[in-house]
Amino acid sequence: MPAEPTNIPRHVAVIMDGNGRWARARNKPRHAGHRAGVASVRATVETAAQRGVELLTLFAFSSENWSRPEEEVSSLMGLFVEALRREVNELHRNNVRLRFIGDRAQLNRGLVKKIEAGEEKTRRNTGLLLNVAVAYGGRWDIVSAAKELAGQVARGELTTAEIDEAKLAAALQLAGLPDPDLLIRTGGEQRISNFLLWNLAYAELWFTDVLWPEFDARQFDNALLFYAQKQRRYGHTSEQVEAAGC
Ligand code: IPE
Ligand code: IPE
Ligand code: MG
Repeated sequence: MPAEPTNIPRHVAVIMDGNGRWARARNKPRHAGHRAGVASVRATVETAAQRGVELLTLFAFSSENWSRPEEEVSSLMGLFVEALRREVNELHRNNVRLRFIGDRAQLNRGLVKKIEAGEEKTRRNTGLLLNVAVAYGGRWDIVSAAKELAGQVARGELTTAEIDEAKLAAALQLAGLPDPDLLIRTGGEQRISNFLLWNLAYAELWFTDVLWPEFDARQFDNALLFYAQKQRRYGHTSEQVEAAGC
């Protein structure tokens, strides 16, 4: 292992992009790229756990990805079901706790059942927490949280004046979890694409041109090294941060 940074991010979020281009470069259909991407997911989960990352949140399918050709959407949904069937036992053996975030109401019943079974089986595991974002959009997440708080106000459980950042955060999909410290995006684009808009407020951002099916432990370690060199100031000055000794 080349990288041995001392300050490992607690929570790493990943936008897994570039499957389609990987396939096109090999004259293969797009779904071959998505299929190849599953191996990178497996490797990334393993590496994250080995390096001491506590939470890993992977963007697998966005609320905007529903606009892709129907054939691609249905092959992706099929791939999620298949990946769950194949991978959940191994995740469980490795003490990984699996959770899904996103709008389940949009997913077909078979996939939701697999998701629920995977979550239930791994619920008591104490190792890496793996969040997989499917049918997820950062704006949807914030709107859902706003609706939840509005409901509490309407029922008299909360007053408008009591609404603060903590209350809104507690109604988001990643409620109760620390924000991502590091965001990795493969595939060359340097944008957020409606991922965790609220939670990424202070994440360090690391972009690579490597396409997702070629992402491996070496790449992950490069991202960790990049992170280890960052001073996180959260609006303070460097002098303040140094004086606080963090
Ligand atoms: C990411 O790869 C996977 C999903 C968004 C589902 P893409 O399918 O976006 O790959 P490119 O960006 O077309 O290469
Ligand atoms: C972001 O990738 C979503 C996922 C990786 C699931 P996209 O390929 O959908 O992003 P854009 O459209 O290039 O911004
Ligand atoms: Mg893409």
